[in-house]
Amino acid sequence: MERHVRLGVNIDHVATLRNARGEDYPKVVEAAKIAEKSGADLITVHVREDRRHINEQDLGDILNVINIPVNLEIAANTEMVNIASYYKPDSVCFVPEKRQEVTTEGGLDVIKNFDNLKRTLKSLSNTNIKISIFIDPDKDQLIATNKLGIKTVEFHTGSYANAFSKQKNVKFELNKIIESTAFAKKIGLICHAGHGLTFNNVTSIASIQDIVELNIGHFIIANSIFYGLENTILKMRDIIAQAIK
Ligand code: PXP
Repeated sequence: MERHVRLGVNIDHVATLRNARGEDYPKVVEAAKIAEKSGADLITVHVREDRRHINEQDLGDILNVINIPVNLEIAANTEMVNIASYYKPDSVCFVPEKRQEVTTEGGLDVIKNFDNLKRTLKSLSNTNIKISIFIDPDKDQLIATNKLGIKTVEFHTGSYANAFSKQKNVKFELNKIIESTAFAKKIGLICHAGHGLTFNNVTSIASIQDIVELNIGHFIIANSIFYGLENTILKMRDIIAQAIK
């Protein structure tokens, strides 16, 4: 069977631009519709505690206008789990969150947060929401994730992306993702990846045989300012398709 890597388009930064001026444009629902039309397999949004970009109204509006799945990134706390339970996105990805960070700077430490995650998962267990967790490509994190009963991980590709920009330690960072994907597969986990991916660095990640989904946001929205959202998504799809040939 031909391999397909799902592309999740993260539209958080359409809301960042909107919120920078407190206007009602650019509209996130427009971005979601264009992304769907351009071949995104899913829309990803992160409702942060400080609502710096996407808010729950956006989440509800997006769910109402598109026919592809919505993946909601949230911190593992009661407020966010209540939002997920109410809006029922197709999937939830648990991410770490610090108020001062510019973006999600690393994966969630499953070992450190094991008990809290266990409680959080329990409160979503009566829903059909698929669960994933954003972790660093690390064996111990994978073992802990498996112990929690979570079946899908998203590897944080930020260290690889940074290495790629600096052209330093690229092989080392890439190998961590390759080896972690192989280990995840061995213990029965499904692998996604994302963070900092661009036209230039996505090929090596998409080429990893057992990665089935990529979530890409900042670069896609930034590039869209000059080249349009549809063109950018089509080109990203094309690069991913070339990578998996
Ligand atoms: N995946 C997850 C879990 C994230 O938290 C983010 C950033 O919000 C991304 C993917 C997308 O990262 P970027 O915006 O750098 O493409």
